[in-house]
Amino acid sequence: MSIRVVAFDAYGTLFDVYSVAALLERHHPGQGATLAAVWRDKQMEYTRLISLSDPFTPTGSRFYQSFWEITRLALRYALAKQGLVNEEATERALMDAYGQLQAFAENKAVLSELKALGFKTAILSNGSPEMLNSAVSHAELTPWIDRVLSVDGLRQYKTMPVTYAMVTEVFSVKPQEVLFVSSNGWDIIGANWFGFETCWVNRGALPVETLGPAPHHQGSDLTTVLESIS
Ligand code: LAC
Repeated sequence: MSIRVVAFDAYGTLFDVYSVAALLERHHPGQGATLAAVWRDKQMEYTRLISLSDPFTPTGSRFYQSFWEITRLALRYALAKQGLVNEEATERALMDAYGQLQAFAENKAVLSELKALGFKTAILSNGSPEMLNSAVSHAELTPWIDRVLSVDGLRQYKTMPVTYAMVTEVFSVKPQEVLFVSSNGWDIIGANWFGFETCWVNRGALPVETLGPAPHHQGSDLTTVLESIS
């Protein structure tokens, strides 16, 4: 079955979550890289905790927090872990930076080529709608992305299968007609189990995850996507 939709993860894949490390470093010299890593790990951990322990019910989930709020809570944890005081103005500056993360240089060329080749394009992200829209427009990617899909309305996070199903539902396609692109190994596994063809953008030169099937395609930046569909 041939690919019709190319769906991208946002954070780490299109937007550089570690680009906030420089700002963290300015505020907390010597600790920028550690803080950025703890911030990201804790953010992911909290999304999983909510999805696993607070499944959505018809009456609503009790502990759901938007990804934006989770990002703030994870930042506070990272600072506390390093024994640092959380100043309100610094938190605001860091959260503002998170809303406008640096995009990776090759994004535009790859996305515009996909559109020229006739593919549908989407973002499927844990990010809250406002933070995603702000990142997309700040990076000037709007013209090449057909749909920006946030899992927020589901009140569940990736890797819950229902989140990946947003792509197949919105575009009325089968999972095998979707190429899912992510820099996150765990996201690639979830997408692969859902039935998507997967492309792992291994920006961190990490080993392949030892759990689950290997990604269908992999490379070190987004241009791998063009090789994957050719
Ligand atoms: C995303 C994060 C989790 O869903 O990478 O965009």
